[in-house]
Order: sequence, then C-alpha cells, then structure tokens
Amino acid sequence: MSTISIATAAEVFDLLKDDLAAIEVEFSRQADSPVAVVTDIANYLIAGGGKRIRPLLLLLSAKSLHCESDARIRLGAVVEMLHTATLVHDDIIDEANTRRGRPSSNTTWGNAKCVLAGDWLYMQAFQTALAERNFRILDLLISLTQEMVEGELLQMEKLGHLINEEEYFDLIYRKTACLFKVSMQLGAVVANPTLGDGERPFEDTLGEYGRNLGLAFQIVDDVLDLTANDEILGKPAASDLREGKATLAVIHALERGTGADREAIRTVLADRSFARVAHADILEILHRHGSLSYAMDTACAYAEAARQSIADLPVSDYKRALLWVPGFVTSRDR
Ligand code: IPE
Ligand code: IPE
Ligand code: MG
Ligand code: MG
Repeated sequence: MSTISIATAAEVFDLLKDDLAAIEVEFSRQADSPVAVVTDIANYLIAGGGKRIRPLLLLLSAKSLHCESDARIRLGAVVEMLHTATLVHDDIIDEANTRRGRPSSNTTWGNAKCVLAGDWLYMQAFQTALAERNFRILDLLISLTQEMVEGELLQMEKLGHLINEEEYFDLIYRKTACLFKVSMQLGAVVANPTLGDGERPFEDTLGEYGRNLGLAFQIVDDVLDLTANDEILGKPAASDLREGKATLAVIHALERGTGADREAIRTVLADRSFARVAHADILEILHRHGSLSYAMDTACAYAEAARQSIADLPVSDYKRALLWVPGFVTSRDR
C-alpha cells in the first residue's frame, strides 16, 4: 500500500508563493477604477491581508491536475475579489466595526459607498471571469452568488430564533462552503477548459473536498466567534450571539441544556445583547454540555471527510498540500 505524507505549512507556502504573489498583483490591477473612492476602498481591503485561502485552494486544485495556464492566476484573483465583496456587504449587514485587525470599510467610508463598492467588486470579478469565454465558469459563479445571497437572506430571517442543525448546515453551506467548493471546481475547469460538463476529471471529487472543507471552516469560524478575543480574530468576537445568530455549539446546548440554560440562551438571542445574561454565563453553559468540543469534533469530521474526498486523486506535492489544508483549518486561531 502506498502512503502519502501530509505537507507542512512552509512547504505549501513555498510551493505556491510565486502564484500567490501573481494573484496579489492581478487583484491590485483589477481593483483599479477611474472613480477614486472605489480604488481606495478596494486597495484598503487588499492591504488588510487575509488568509487568501480560496485562491490557495483554486491553485492547489488546478495544479494537482497539472494546469499551467495563466487562467489559474486570473481566477484566483476572481474568487478572492468575490470573497472580499461579500465581506464588505457582510460587515454592513452585521454592523461590524473591525475586519482584519483594522476598522472595517463601512466605518471609514459609510454604508452607502461600501454597498456600491462591493457591487463594483462583484462585477469586476465577473468581468474578469467573462474574459475566459467559458460558460461553465460563469455558470459556477452565478449559481454561487445566488446561493450566497440566499444564505444571507435566510440567515436574516432566522435571526433571534432557534434553528436546528439541518437549518444551520444549509446556511453555512450557502454562505461559506459553496465558495470553497466552487474555488476547487474552477481549478478543475481551468485545468481542462475545453472538455464538456461531466467530462472533466476530478471536478466532482475536488468540489466535494471544497464543500467538506468549507463546512469545517465555517464551524471553526463560529466556534472562534464564541471563544476567541477581538485582538486575535481581528474582527468583533462574540458577535454571532449579539446578532441573534445561533451557531452549532449553541444549537447543541439548546438541545441538551436544562430549562434555565435554554432560557439564558434564548434571552441573549432575543435581546441580541449580553445585557441580561453575560457572555461568560453562556460560555459556562456551552462548556458544561461539551458543546464547544462537539462543534470542534464535527469540524474535524468534515476536515477528515475532505481528505477522504480526494483519496483517488493522483499523488503529487499539490495533493499533499491539499491533505495539509484541513488540519490548518481546524487548528487555526483566527
Ligand atoms: C471570513 O473568511 C468569512 C467567513 C467565511 C467566515 P476568512 O476567515 O477567510 O477571512 P479572511 O479573508 O482571512 O480575512
Ligand atoms: C461569513 O459569515 C459569511 C460570509 C459570506 C461573509 P460571518 O458573519 O460569520 O463572517 P465573519 O465572522 O463576519 O467573518
Ligand atoms: Mg459577519
Ligand atoms: Mg463569523
């Protein structure tokens, strides 16, 4: 039986550093608008950094299939632009005041300008994607955008209410995992752009990897929201409960807690504040019921499912890197 070892962070970075640098250049080039405020907001967002995990996935997917085409750089920039646009809109919707350790764009430029700058970035991403002259790419990106918008709307309707796990997984698929899935699928498309739908090797396999990884990623984001602090996260902590969002650990505690525990959680969700029940009290409830461990175990199970999804992918350094990413996602602290 052949075994394949998992790469290290340094190896993965080394493997992709030239491509990731090229994506930064492409993103900056794409952010250039004749209207200064758009360029200012876009450059501010680019300079804020970020993990760049979606372009990283697209590159690994493409390169695991021996893609050499420059389309991987352009589409890597496209997925990061789409992600950035969703963050601009998300911070307006969530009324967040920090992002990536700095004031969020809405606090600096105001909601009205940021809605429009987010729209502009979306369209710029589509313009760049359109230049590939490939309907599969547009099909994936349009469906993705609809899923994400539907996800945000569904989430809004559920704010302040108790939701079950099924509803939670539907939401996190739409708002996060779908973009991870599409980033992986786009890698398969640029590796074999001329093949028809259903004929591209490993598109489904890599997409399934992205879906599982994306679910793990958002579960971890939601746990960190409950347990980390603002400085480490670079964005407001404990914001989900204050926004009335019940995430996996909270849903677990609601299903297992005593009457008093459930009442405490319900109060915070309905009030959308910790005025009557402290954040520390909620954390105590979550710890007592093992709810945070339950959520992390679930994230780890999806991370493992991601690894399993690519079992048949041919062995390469890129596959080794793909096997490393799930561990990075579940052990991250920001
Ligand atoms: C934040 O995504 C939004 C979620 C899907 C949780 P990231 O955690 O990838 O944000 P950056 O790009 O690294 O800042
Ligand atoms: C992320 O949801 C979903 C997006 C598509 C932006 P969150 O609201 O949890 O993201 P953060 O925590 O603000 O990054
Ligand atoms: Mg948010
Ligand atoms: Mg969050």
